Amino acid sequence: MKVLVTGAAGSIGRVVMVGLADRGHTVVGLDRVPEPTGEDRPWFTVDCTDPDAVAAVFDEEAFDGVLHLAGRPHEANLPDSLSSHVITTAALLDAMVEHGVRRFVYASSNHAVGRTPRRDLVGIDTRPRPDTFYGVGKVAAEAVMSLYADRYGIDAVACRIGSYLERPETVRHLSTWLSHDDCVRMVDAALTAPAPGFAVLYGISANTRGWWDLEPGRALGYEPLDDAEEFAASIAPGPDDTADGAYVGGDYASPAQERPALDRS
Ligand SMILES: NC(=O)c1ccc[n+]([C@@H]2O[C@H](COP(=O)([O-])OP(=O)(O)OC[C@H]3O[C@@H](n4cnc5c(N)ncnc54)[C@H](O)[C@@H]3O)[C@@H](O)[C@H]2O)c1
Repeated sequence: MKVLVTGAAGSIGRVVMVGLADRGHTVVGLDRVPEPTGEDRPWFTVDCTDPDAVAAVFDEEAFDGVLHLAGRPHEANLPDSLSSHVITTAALLDAMVEHGVRRFVYASSNHAVGRTPRRDLVGIDTRPRPDTFYGVGKVAAEAVMSLYADRYGIDAVACRIGSYLERPETVRHLSTWLSHDDCVRMVDAALTAPAPGFAVLYGISANTRGWWDLEPGRALGYEPLDDAEEFAASIAPGPDDTADGAYVGGDYASPAQERPALDRS
């Protein structure tokens, strides 16, 4: 299928652009920064917070689906977080409705449920429980997706990604790691699953110590093959491991992240 990949210059974007193309998809990149040097793919340099600029992309080219990775992958004040995650999602969905594009896959985050205490396996039916304004942005973006699925019949899959890394680096990562190859498997499945409607899956590898339920992803065809446990022997325990393991969001759920929602002058 022909996929518009937003945030294509980012750490996930660069890998999935290649991975999706290798799997037979036609990929078109979009980012607010120009295409990374050395790449030579169709590209739009556009800020996704600008609805006119986003609409112009869809006026120019037809797509079968959108993979939305553009966004700031860290904590921010509330307006910046809403702009980065919710406004961008809404701008893309509006353009999709206007142009009859039916499939939307979003890089949501484990931080949408990060304040959930670490006890049992976390399913997709747990209540939204963000640990930060970043997590609030992800929850709200998922809510916009749900609205557009119900209102317009968009198939909208939210992938709540854990820790996307080449390899796990901390004890927490042994639970939260998403390998590069599994990330490509995940977005491919989310783009091609038949008629998912609004759906949520957890974007982690098949980690022995995983603490999110992988079955909703499997139901959509995401079968992770990597396991962080393979690296366990090379990871030294750290002083923050116990605190990091108290909530599923790790240190994002700690008091160190507390800040006012709004910056004042
Ligand atoms: N990396 C992870 O472990 C992880 C975990 C959970 C969720 N996510 C989510 O995955 C997505 C991608 O993360 P990443 O690690 O590749 O981040 P990244 O910072 O490496 O890449 C994000 C890209 O998006 C672009 N971008 C940001 N705002 C934009 C806008 N308004 N319009 C157009 N382009 C914009 C940036 O220029 C950048 O190239 C983010 O939404 C992030 O919240 C990442």
